[in-house]
Amino acid sequence: MSFENVDYTSLSVPAAPFSDPSIIPHFPAGKVPCHVGVIMDGNGRWAKQRGLIRTEGHKAAEPVVFDTIAGAIEAGVRYLTLYTFSTENWNRSPFEVRFLMGFSRDIIHRRVGQMNDWGVRVRWAGRRPRLWKSVIDELDDAMEKTKNNKTIDVVFAINYGGRAEIADAAAAIAKKVRDGRISGDRVTEKMFQEHLYNPDIPNVDLVVRTSGEMRTSNFLPWEAAYAELDFEPELWPDCGRQILWRAIGKYAQRGRRFGKA
Ligand code: IPE
Ligand code: IPE
Ligand code: MG
Repeated sequence: MSFENVDYTSLSVPAAPFSDPSIIPHFPAGKVPCHVGVIMDGNGRWAKQRGLIRTEGHKAAEPVVFDTIAGAIEAGVRYLTLYTFSTENWNRSPFEVRFLMGFSRDIIHRRVGQMNDWGVRVRWAGRRPRLWKSVIDELDDAMEKTKNNKTIDVVFAINYGGRAEIADAAAAIAKKVRDGRISGDRVTEKMFQEHLYNPDIPNVDLVVRTSGEMRTSNFLPWEAAYAELDFEPELWPDCGRQILWRAIGKYAQRGRRFGKA
């Protein structure tokens, strides 16, 4: 089906890893974003609407994460960055923070085999200090196990903050200058980029945020400086691959100019 004519809202997709190929929209070649970043927002509100505690919303988010990964593979997305825990999320209640840390660790542990079967290369973007060691250990293990996979790179942004990433890059460069390894006059955009968390990953083409909030909340400010932005109204636990496809459908109809006339 042509991607413009799909009714994404009523599209019924199976929870099974991969869809019946006939329902996958045909996005024109060259119109699928290579790198998509997703701000998975709205878990707390979803739980509140049901009279549940916030952590129940996080639990309901897990299948949506994996449905979205499957949908990204089907659409031909090559890099998918998922905003999982921000440097600002430490300001939530200790109970919620503890839950999110333990839950992230457990999901990576439980799902690494499935991701490996799907050809996912697991990556991480974030800061080490403060992040639970058990989370870092699971990430390290998953990254090692999946390092040769080539279908899609899924970057979990955990303890990620865009300003922290830029500050960390600046600090790393300052150290090299101090040690005489590079000259201060040689700081260019290209070399700065090489000091970000994952310098090999191309810039973000499309940022999708769910839950109707229209801000980017410190997500990939450098990498997404020229990204197309898309805001979807659904709360994250109500989403799935059809929301990603809807966003890609809109992206495919945008004209990107990069400053050219
Ligand atoms: C997104 O949902 C998940 C994380 C930030 C970890 P929220 O927990 O922010 O849910 P809302 O925005 O309060 O509804
Ligand atoms: C952004 O959502 C962070 C993640 C999705 C992990 P938040 O819910 O933390 O962002 P704000 O507070 O609405 O800006
Ligand atoms: Mg939120």
